[in-house]
Amino acid sequence: MFRKLLTVLALVSTVYSVEFQIKNNSPDTPVFVQLLGTEYPDPFTLQANEEKTVILNEPWSGRIWGRVDCYSVEECGAAGPIPASLAEITVGDGNAFYDLSLVDGFNINLSIEPVGGHGNGGEYSCKKSECSYPILNDCPDELKLFNKDGVLVSCQAACNVFNDDLYCCRGEHSTPDTCKSSDWPVDYAGFFKDRCPDAYCYAYDDQQSTYTCDTNKFIVTFL
Ligand SMILES: *[C@@H]1O[C@H](CO)[C@@H](O)[C@H](O)[C@H]1NC(C)=O
Repeated sequence: MFRKLLTVLALVSTVYSVEFQIKNNSPDTPVFVQLLGTEYPDPFTLQANEEKTVILNEPWSGRIWGRVDCYSVEECGAAGPIPASLAEITVGDGNAFYDLSLVDGFNINLSIEPVGGHGNGGEYSCKKSECSYPILNDCPDELKLFNKDGVLVSCQAACNVFNDDLYCCRGEHSTPDTCKSSDWPVDYAGFFKDRCPDAYCYAYDDQQSTYTCDTNKFIVTFL
């Protein structure tokens, strides 16, 4: 009886999990992978063409990103303002919301793809979202972030660079109506959006960048 109960509990806990298959498709660059969320594993390095599966308890909400300019928490920082392209995921009861975000900047190409879900066929239902564009090459000078060796590591978000209410959608610009990137002196969010239309590019970017799917399994690829 007790053993049966344990078996049932084991099955239940198997069902309520979220699985991320995280891949580094780069042919030659290792990626330092970090997760932050409801619960999360220690960061790890994926060598070129390596992949790793991370299984966490559901409900889960958090973000996944990668760095190619640092390979330890000491160097990269544990979380904080991350000048990195992000995959953001919220999963509960087998239903998920997911998106790519450049709200904190862009550093490397990435994609997120649900596995095994059934959508309604809509553009934002169970589809892969990808951001791959040579954004670092095009980055406006004022947004460029260099490391101590002078290597360009990120194209930062305007909010992180200027830290003012306008670009950060704060204060009198804290609503979608008063924080339209098209009204900014320079539409920095538009710069990112033109290159990665699937991604969120600032706090009040149009809601059409969020995808949904009835799955608890994803492939996140650095490419
Ligand atoms: C990102 O993707 C673009 C388009 O495929 C490619 O030109 C660029 O080199 C990639 N960036 C990196 C850092 O690999």
